[in-house]
Amino acid sequence: MVNIGEMTKKVSDEHDEIERLLGQLDDLIMRHETKTTGLAILGKIVQYSIDHIRREELLMDTMKYNFYREHTFDHVQIIEILTKSLSDCEGFGGIEWDQFARSIREAYYNHIAHFDDPFIDTLNHSR
Ligand SMILES: [Fe+2]
Ligand SMILES: [Fe+2]
Repeated sequence: MVNIGEMTKKVSDEHDEIERLLGQLDDLIMRHETKTTGLAILGKIVQYSIDHIRREELLMDTMKYNFYREHTFDHVQIIEILTKSLSDCEGFGGIEWDQFARSIREAYYNHIAHFDDPFIDTLNHSR
């Protein structure tokens, strides 16, 4: 059985953690860190996101969220962007890692603004 209250708290905490990781990524981009350092944080963001998204979808499904389909459709796209950018970043030697980091960052901030924030608003109003 899924406890909606506990799950909501967990998903919200994960959003805070994702924002923290993205902030860390911004710092690394600004400091022109090495690709090895960049890849470590990108890998962490991608893995964390995949786990988080699974949980968020379970929560949306459990509470019969109205925009479940649109939201999960965007998840499919964001996971594709994240995993592709990460593997391209690992693969291409000549290109600066921060180009990939920027596309991950941009896709993520768009998702948060258009999908996660409205979902969290709904959660807060249904409590
Ligand atoms: Fe989401
Ligand atoms: Fe989320």
